[in-house]
Amino acid sequence: MTNRVLVFDTTLRDGEQSPGVRLSMSQKLEIGHALVDLGVDVIEAGFPISSPGDFEAVQTLARELRGVQICGLTRAREKDIDVAGEALKDAENPRIHTGLGVSQNHLENKLRMSREQALETGVNAVKHARKYTDNIEYFMEDSGRADPDYVYKVVEEVIKAGATTINVPDTTGYTYPEEYRALIQGIINNVPNSDQAIFSCHCHNDLGMATANTLGGVLGGARQVEVTVNGIGERAGNTSLEEVVMALYIRRDIFGLETKIKTHKLLPISRLVSRLSGMMVQRNKAVVGANAYAHSSGIHQDGVLKDRSTYEIIAPELVGAEKSEIILTARSGRHGLRHRLAELGFGFTEERFEELYNHFLVMADTKSEVGDEDLRDLVTK
Ligand code: KIV
Ligand code: ZN
Repeated sequence: MTNRVLVFDTTLRDGEQSPGVRLSMSQKLEIGHALVDLGVDVIEAGFPISSPGDFEAVQTLARELRGVQICGLTRAREKDIDVAGEALKDAENPRIHTGLGVSQNHLENKLRMSREQALETGVNAVKHARKYTDNIEYFMEDSGRADPDYVYKVVEEVIKAGATTINVPDTTGYTYPEEYRALIQGIINNVPNSDQAIFSCHCHNDLGMATANTLGGVLGGARQVEVTVNGIGERAGNTSLEEVVMALYIRRDIFGLETKIKTHKLLPISRLVSRLSGMMVQRNKAVVGANAYAHSSGIHQDGVLKDRSTYEIIAPELVGAEKSEIILTARSGRHGLRHRLAELGFGFTEERFEELYNHFLVMADTKSEVGDEDLRDLVTK
């Protein structure tokens, strides 16, 4: 098993399915170029049969982008696959992503098929997709709630039919990390031809566990992660690219795995996707939130100013952030205030500083943050 984890970005497909998000063709291309610069391995550019806009997006990215695999999503239907094949025909390395549900819920309530019918439909879809490319990913929708024995059967048959990547989606964000890890491990250990495919984690965030589940899947043997920038996606979103990449990097002592992501481009692409999609990033979002490298309490400021490793496990420049920030609030201490005043070019006697500190505390009680202008006012009073 290799130590490389492939990053499959679906910001432009699953991410764009976020309610309220609609990206124009030129915006998709801008994001596509940024994803290539970031170093992702696969870009899922859209679902070509779903609309002329999605067809155009897949076709344009397939024509314009190099050094990356371009993927189009399809249902397990010949027409979908033909349309995706057409959209992808100019790609350097096209991938068709086809499949259908495997849980009893999806089989009965959505597909209205027996297990046998669904299996046959999936196998035929893979065989049909091979007319266009050998790079075929098969998704088993709602794997997280499916019977593992049926999942094993499907995996074995679609690999025989030619699938080279097997996507194991926790479509509803239902699983927990140990369970998802066991699912991937179970597939790898129980399917006789599992060595002929790469297994992929595709987790949704309904219970806030998408990143943890994806990392669980990687520990179980998956070597591809399906992610979106800022974790945007249906409902509570998909797994966030920046969280998985940084967890693999910061905890490489545990995972011993690599991606080819240029981590210093994570914050710039997060800001780009947020601006173009209109999806704000919450301030305390891991890795890329505005507060992720900001310290406001006195105890933390004191530690960080002595040595930032006391409270920071990620150096801000590693993800493209400017630097750690000391935010002055009513919880800040003398050390933080003295540090900021010195940065602004002010130095005081101990006595004057004590006086200023008391004024600062009174001011800080009236506002959420004391900024540089407030400090200048305080000093010149
Ligand atoms: O969540 C999911 O199951 C999906 C598939 C279409 C891959 O997005
Ligand atoms: Zn999904």
